[in-house]
Amino acid sequence: PVLVVDFGAQYAQLIARRVREASVYSEIVPHSISAAEVAAKNPVGIILSGGPSSVYEAGAPSLDPGIIELGVPVLGICYGFQVMAQQLGGEVGKTGAREYGSTDVVASDTSNVLLHDQPEQQITWMSHGDSVLQAPAGFDVLASSASTPVAAFANDARRLYGVQWHPEVKHTQYGQSVLENFLHRAAGIPDDWNSGNVIAEQVERIRAQVGSARVICGLSGGVDSAVAAAIVQKAVGDQLTCIFVDHGLLRQDEARQVQEDFVASTGVRLVTVDAEDQFLDALAGVSDPEQKRKIIGREFIRTFEAAAEALVLESKADGATIDFLVQGTLYPDVVESGGGSGTANIKSHHNVGGLPDDLTFALVEPLRTLFKDEVRAIGRELGLPEVIVSRQPFPGPGLGIRIVGEVTRERLDLLRLADAIAREELTNAGLDGEIWQCPVVLLADVRSVGVQGDGRTYGHPIVLRPVSSEDAMTADWTRLPYDLLARISNRITNEVPGVNRVVLDVTSKPPGTIEWE
Ligand code: XMP
Repeated sequence: PVLVVDFGAQYAQLIARRVREASVYSEIVPHSISAAEVAAKNPVGIILSGGPSSVYEAGAPSLDPGIIELGVPVLGICYGFQVMAQQLGGEVGKTGAREYGSTDVVASDTSNVLLHDQPEQQITWMSHGDSVLQAPAGFDVLASSASTPVAAFANDARRLYGVQWHPEVKHTQYGQSVLENFLHRAAGIPDDWNSGNVIAEQVERIRAQVGSARVICGLSGGVDSAVAAAIVQKAVGDQLTCIFVDHGLLRQDEARQVQEDFVASTGVRLVTVDAEDQFLDALAGVSDPEQKRKIIGREFIRTFEAAAEALVLESKADGATIDFLVQGTLYPDVVESGGGSGTANIKSHHNVGGLPDDLTFALVEPLRTLFKDEVRAIGRELGLPEVIVSRQPFPGPGLGIRIVGEVTRERLDLLRLADAIAREELTNAGLDGEIWQCPVVLLADVRSVGVQGDGRTYGHPIVLRPVSSEDAMTADWTRLPYDLLARISNRITNEVPGVNRVVLDVTSKPPGTIEWE
């Protein structure tokens, strides 16, 4: 792999993604890693990330100097560039001028492999207080900016490179080019990491892990569990059984897409538990959001456990055991939780609630090394239906938390219809890519007066909540075109009985959350 050494802040994940966009496999490692540990991973390249610190501050994150001496090509970025400069005998200090944001850089040596095919003048994105004042002996200065005399350097013989700017951010004009020049030209790493390889590698891993035991997997209708199940199916075929708890809170067509389209495209053996009545009975009379979430979580665990237990018994009768549970854990979760290896107890499942600790299967996590966009690419490669692969995030408790008020079958039907209209119009307008998700919410406890034909109406409002976001931690409301909003509003008020008003939520997160409950 290419190892991305994490010096803090958000940059390492972004770098790792860009490296993979260059079709090279990358892994994030902490800056506390030793040279021996790095060597043990057999890296083909090392990238030192940026970070929020200053290299000469006490307690600044450091790097085992042996790492740069391993003979593996190294690219230092921002803080990582300064760490390199300092360790190799260059000089880092304050020039007095800080550079934040868009910064013009002048390349003095575009013949260097790092700046191959780039112009002399380019716009980069910088964020630093300190600067490299003097490159280490043996290094050529490749570029400078108004306040940074050494904005990039290279030692071609030792294959050591560095840039002060952030090539991983999109505002840097030739950022991807710098990364690809380093990876492919300087380090000579082939661009052979792709969905097909990932699938082949995971299939082998899963076969080795699972042997002849049986495996179960919960399907939620979302992309992660679907892709995880499809890879495991490819690896061990009918040793896998999927469980789909249909809680009756999914959107129009979603249950069918899992039961028919997904099954048809993968050949997965699926057990569906039709639990709509059970969930609606449990939710009867309940309006409080937290209460609703708890009930849905509880019912989900009960139902899933019962289905899993039935499968365990069935296996016993066959003289087999179910030892494994598939989870769609993604790489960002792994990085954020410290990167421990996944074994034993189930922590969370289906995002609804958690599964209890006494359900102990070993975990199969085929997506542990992947980012979300890679999971979608693999889903496509595996031939999963596009509606599932490109599905936006949808909360585990489903439409249960998009009805403000009591959840009833009639209200669910209204909301499903309104939601389907909004989704169809967004898709037709080609705007699915512009938004992160667009919850459609029924204010069942609110009524307002309207007029339709000659008559007065007294109906419920529907809220449209289109948001743009990178990670759902923060979000802004999406400025959808007025004519699109008008079309959605007209159709919903005309086609959804009992709804006489459509309103747009123009609140960012914070202070509003994305969902209403
Ligand atoms: P909020 O409403 O907290 O939502 O801004 C952030 C993101 O999380 C989704 N969400 C959930 N996902 N189980 C989930 O799997 C849940 O209980 C849940 N609640 C909210 C929400 O759709 C948004 O993408």
